[in-house]
Amino acid sequence: MNYNIAVIPGDGIGPEVIEQTVLVLDKIGEIYGHNFNYTEVLAGGCAIDKTGEPLPEKTVEICKSSDAVLLGAVGGPKWDNLPGDQRPERALLGIRKALGLYANLRPAILFEQLKDACPLKPEIIGDGLDICVVRELTGGIYFGEKGRKDTPMGEAAYDVEIYSVEEVRRIAKHAFEIARKRNKVLTNVDKANVLESSRLWRSVVIDVAKDYPDVTLNHMYVDNAAMQLVRNPKQFDVMVTTNMFGDILSDEASMVTGSIGMLPSASLGGNIGMYEPIHGSAPDIAGEDKANPIATILSVAMMLRHSFDLEKEAAIIEDAVKKVLDQNYRTGDIYSEGQKLVGTKEMGRLIIEALC
Ligand code: NAD
Ligand code: IPM
Ligand code: MN
Repeated sequence: MNYNIAVIPGDGIGPEVIEQTVLVLDKIGEIYGHNFNYTEVLAGGCAIDKTGEPLPEKTVEICKSSDAVLLGAVGGPKWDNLPGDQRPERALLGIRKALGLYANLRPAILFEQLKDACPLKPEIIGDGLDICVVRELTGGIYFGEKGRKDTPMGEAAYDVEIYSVEEVRRIAKHAFEIARKRNKVLTNVDKANVLESSRLWRSVVIDVAKDYPDVTLNHMYVDNAAMQLVRNPKQFDVMVTTNMFGDILSDEASMVTGSIGMLPSASLGGNIGMYEPIHGSAPDIAGEDKANPIATILSVAMMLRHSFDLEKEAAIIEDAVKKVLDQNYRTGDIYSEGQKLVGTKEMGRLIIEALC
């Protein structure tokens, strides 16, 4: 079978983690007889440097005509002083919007082997953690009206948080469907004690819940949720939340899994899915062969599962990652004394070796 994948290496550590991920996918293709064809496209800072814009039209066209999109990371200090609409990050938002990817799945799983890397006490993590953060991805404050204006206090700027009933309904349904296939507990995270948009959000989630009587729904304010994630993360099964709150809570949840370098994501909702680690371009370690490629490698496992229905192949990648961790190989972000410290390339090579 042929699969066409648009590959966006992006900036910073993006190309480093993508390189290893593509090698993993190539090996899966070789073992199981699939043809993964890659079209590398420009987005982010490197696109600004080569074409003058963060998201060239050609990139969107190629993504739209592919079977799935794989992305490393975009952004970096070099482009930090550009106006908002010309920044590398615009590329990411533009692709999400263009492909209609409103549902962002960020599974935070603490592998048995990484209990040492989790900063929480053993009695808090118990026998492990498995949380799925479902983040709304094409609405809210990221996409609401924004601008600058003069006020009696001088120059001011604003970003509007806005959600329609329909936007909330579709992400809520998505989250309930996921919860139904897991432990059937959904925590809605909002700020309904203050924000009108959150009050609408919560009322729609409650309405959607009528179709899912088998799923237990509870509600939590975002400030409490941030605290509960480190106080008692085991209480969570699936969390559903807005674009902004999901961005923040998933970075926090990633640390509970040992490192942000471990957390993959799938962006779904349109015809084509996009898969990317939740971390950024990590300018502080870029080009040093230090980045953990596992989040991106696990993202491609999500691609095989969600876009191509290749469950067996997805599970083989996840098992290979666990095998390498079992052998005590670690990149710097998940390393503790006595383990074997390896770089990005070596981690990739070990995972490929473990696939066979
Ligand atoms: P970041 O996620 O890039 O880095 C935060 C910290 O985590 C850094 O210390 C970094 O070294 C570490 N880290 C991240 N990924 C790692 C990995 N795979 N292995 C080991 N360590 C890792 O966040 P930031 O520093 O806030 O952002 C840097 C740039 O990336 C910014 O321009 C930001 O806008 C962009 N960004 C892009 C994406 C994306 O493309 N999806 C996501 C987040 C941030
Ligand atoms: C993420 C990133 C992006 C976001 C940025 C780079 C636009 O932080 O994917 O988590 O905020 O969605
Ligand atoms: Mn983020």
